[in-house]
Amino acid sequence: MKKITIDANTYVYPNPVTLVGTQVEGKANFMALGWISRVNAKPPLVGIGVNRVLHTAKGIRETKTFSVNYPSADMVEAADYCGIVSGKKVDKSDLFEIFYGHLKTAPMIKECPLCMECKLIDTVELPTNYFFIGEIVMSYTEEKYLTDGKPDIKKMNPLLLTMPDNSYWTVGEYAGKAWSIGKALKK
Ligand SMILES: Cc1cc2nc3c(=O)[nH]c(=O)nc-3n(C[C@H](O)[C@H](O)[C@H](O)COP(=O)(O)O)c2cc1C
Repeated sequence: MKKITIDANTYVYPNPVTLVGTQVEGKANFMALGWISRVNAKPPLVGIGVNRVLHTAKGIRETKTFSVNYPSADMVEAADYCGIVSGKKVDKSDLFEIFYGHLKTAPMIKECPLCMECKLIDTVELPTNYFFIGEIVMSYTEEKYLTDGKPDIKKMNPLLLTMPDNSYWTVGEYAGKAWSIGKALKK
């Protein structure tokens, strides 16, 4: 098994495609975002990497809030559109049906199976990006996306992103129970 080297700028495989909702100068805006990670459990924190020049960065810095919405695969066109046009030039507020939760400046998308509203708790300044860390204040879904009371990835049918081939994917096959299947190797 001979290893070969490729570009150091390798992707974290795969990332979900999310739509980050913000309010900028009083208007809702949504951007496509793949660079997201859960970074703490208690309290529940998510981190998102957002280029400093984007309209979304302005909104988060202004309101100290944002939302994370998971589009389903049938929303691929609208999700991609949110990643190729900027709210600086194009009004993206009428693309989706919008609702608000506890935070009045974190617009969420009714069509998305899962939405989280987040309160900004920290900002890490990176060379070209801000890494915004937000606490999930509340999550929203619908009964039809749950199995045994938990979000079911097959029912939600989220979009996944790979780079540098810049491709969208859907979720594949179930591979085993986490924190469990490895017990078979315990001695
Ligand atoms: C699938 C996809 C994923 C993206 N992920 C990110 C990301 O994680 N961080 C980022 O800064 N830009 C990302 N972008 C680019 C922004 O979505 C894009 O620049 C967008 O126009 C910004 O909108 P805004 O200026 O209204 O905030 C992504 C674009 C696409 C198509």
